[in-house]
Amino acid sequence: MEIAVIGSNMVDLITYTNHLPKAGETLEAPDFAIGCGGKGANQAIAAAKLGGKVMMISKVGDDLFAPNTVANLQQQGVDTRYVTTAPGTSSGVAPIFVDEQSQNRILIVKGANQQLKPADIDAAADALKACQLMILQLEIPPETVYYAIDFARQHDIKVILNPAPAVANLDIQYACKCDFFMPNETELEILTGMPVSSDEEVKLAGQSLLKRGLKNLIITLGSRGSLWMSNDDLHQVAPVTVRAVDTSGAGDAFIGCFAYMLVKTGNILEAMQQASAYAACSVTERGTQRSYPDAETFQRFLNVH
Ligand code: RIB
Repeated sequence: MEIAVIGSNMVDLITYTNHLPKAGETLEAPDFAIGCGGKGANQAIAAAKLGGKVMMISKVGDDLFAPNTVANLQQQGVDTRYVTTAPGTSSGVAPIFVDEQSQNRILIVKGANQQLKPADIDAAADALKACQLMILQLEIPPETVYYAIDFARQHDIKVILNPAPAVANLDIQYACKCDFFMPNETELEILTGMPVSSDEEVKLAGQSLLKRGLKNLIITLGSRGSLWMSNDDLHQVAPVTVRAVDTSGAGDAFIGCFAYMLVKTGNILEAMQQASAYAACSVTERGTQRSYPDAETFQRFLNVH
């Protein structure tokens, strides 16, 4: 395997609505879709759809959703030997609301994802040691994330930490042990307590993290592109402009593609440019994983953008 994703899987319950209801109000929404999601699984699927060799360490619940989640990962070629069941729990679910501007609001119920423990990393140790890159997010317990980072450091595996959903009390010492720290602007705001409404503010907030010892900070800025900051460099990658219909999971599309390209080329800027285009392509379709193009569809998108 090239890439190991240690993270969540969720069942996305996506409601398309023009307005969100007020307290006590019942509102009819025009459309609904159910799909496979979870930040970890989304990133794994994006990398696998592009051709990456991906394994996942994850927990499903003891319910009707679980077999479909595992089958979906397998259909996309993700190694699921270490996707195991947490007895007596429900699978993670994510009610998502997409508004008429195509923006998303997400609630998560972590369910079985809460049961992913350091012991699950030990159980997959031999397979993990053979990976070049590990990807982590924060929809699993923090102690598991920290344990995985230490494991990666001991075995010379590169690490991407996507601090999503953001928590203000993230142990920054562990973030500093990662090769890439990849928040979006909202996560950057929560992590730093600093405003991020302009590019200048984003850079100041980013610098405050670099001063604390982060190596490479890659901030995804939605329709404003992305920014790579390190102590030596600052590069802004322009967005690929498209007509968005659903932005859910676009950040995960970016990270999955970035990881795949990084393993393939070792070139950070090239990986960011491809990831930017991949995320843009994903927002032209509805849903999270189901909107991610495979390598052939992505190439067709690149030919016209
Ligand atoms: O980043 C998008 C994802 O966040 C959704 O798929 C949802 O499951 C939540 O984990």
